[in-house]
Amino acid sequence: MSYRICCIGAGYVGGPSMIVMADSCPGLQIHVVDHDKQRIDSWNNLIAKDLPIYEPGLDEIHKRVLGKSLFFSTDVELYIKNADMVFITVNTPTKINGHGAGEAADLTNIELAARTIAEFVKGTTIVVERSTIPVRTADVLKRIFRKNSSENIHILSNPEFMAQGSAVQDLISPDRVLIGGDDQRAIDELAGIYQHWVPSERILRTNLWSAELAKLTANAFLAQRISSVNTIAALCESSGAHIDEVAQAIGADRRIGHHFLRAGPGFGGSCFRKDILNLVYLSHYFGLPDVAYYWRSVLTINDWTRARITELIINKLFSTLQGKKIVILGFTFKPHTNDIRESPAIYICQDLLDEGAMLSIHDPMATIESIHQALSWQSPSSVTFNQDLMSSFREADAAVLLTEWPIYLKLDWKLLSSYMRSPAWFFDTRNVLNRAELENYGLNLWSIGFGGIH
Ligand code: UGA
Repeated sequence: MSYRICCIGAGYVGGPSMIVMADSCPGLQIHVVDHDKQRIDSWNNLIAKDLPIYEPGLDEIHKRVLGKSLFFSTDVELYIKNADMVFITVNTPTKINGHGAGEAADLTNIELAARTIAEFVKGTTIVVERSTIPVRTADVLKRIFRKNSSENIHILSNPEFMAQGSAVQDLISPDRVLIGGDDQRAIDELAGIYQHWVPSERILRTNLWSAELAKLTANAFLAQRISSVNTIAALCESSGAHIDEVAQAIGADRRIGHHFLRAGPGFGGSCFRKDILNLVYLSHYFGLPDVAYYWRSVLTINDWTRARITELIINKLFSTLQGKKIVILGFTFKPHTNDIRESPAIYICQDLLDEGAMLSIHDPMATIESIHQALSWQSPSSVTFNQDLMSSFREADAAVLLTEWPIYLKLDWKLLSSYMRSPAWFFDTRNVLNRAELENYGLNLWSIGFGGIH
């Protein structure tokens, strides 16, 4: 009989991880389970646009493996019972209430999954944590299994390192696969699966806690680089330096490298803030307040970065936004996704609205409903959505580019400059617009980290 895998949680982690695994290991029987029937129905659909998440390349692979080595079902209990290996890929948001609120991860879904596993698991089984979780969550699992199951259960930590928009590529060709655990045979079993498509030298074996901590730390380091470069961008503006030149120069040092040195309006997405908060909580928990303070400051700088952008927009527009029309270019936290979670656009738009601005928001993928919800909809008449991008510039005083979608680089500058009120401002928070082109049509351009005369 073929090796049977059950994956609890058919979301952003479980879906792509199992689709890629099923494609590389046709001998496996993988069942992804979730109580959310609507989500399971969507995964069982072969029409790409109806899949629950969008990731470039995912639909093709999904089509190839569905019903062959990969199945989606709501029958959670049955497939846990049948499994040789169970992945946990449920989500772990930041706690909203109670002890550790605003910092600690909410482990309700993990605990629920563990209790269900303990109840239904049969025979020797490997349980793999793949959701991002606080360090020592494996302890929680161990305790639940010990008390509630007499079966032989081995726990492994196998965190995911995929980024939105490149998830399929990150899974097919990962920099590393991390497997943490106590039981060598269990580690080898999981490593054996990955070896079908990942070179052995990229499969790292560690203890449980190292694997758990490495996931949080990787995200914290990436976020820290962004906060660092954003502070230097502000220094560039005051000193006459250019952030691209500075980033190029420091990135050329191989010990630093070029990645994650783009200045911007601050990092967003569902992971960075949550994982740093988690690290802050852990540091406090283990009696390390200075360490907590250090990592907290990465978030403080991120908040500051967003706030300073709003401030300078106000400044340039003669210190008042009352009744002024501002076009917002991009709302997602990065291009090529429809995800707006923790997007800097939410905070910046909220602040601009508080100052009395009228916003015309455009984004190629974010839904109007999600933007409505994010802006808590205090004053609906102050926000409009214009599918016809060019006409949204009519009578506008300024435009703020918040997400570097390619379409914003090739606008008809001549036409839109004739639509806008003078002096018309462009605020380029991603440093992607062509200065000469805009200035040629009399548009004023502020670019992040550009220390010229604005
Ligand atoms: C991030 C990590 O990159 C993944 O490795 C990790 O697996 C994932 O979180 C996770 O924990 O699930 P993601 O949130 O999809 O992935 O997006 P990133 O590409 O890392 O971008 C995050 C934010 O940083 C975006 O708002 C982006 O605009 C910003 N960013 C990124 C910059 O401002 N400058 C840069 O140089 C790079």
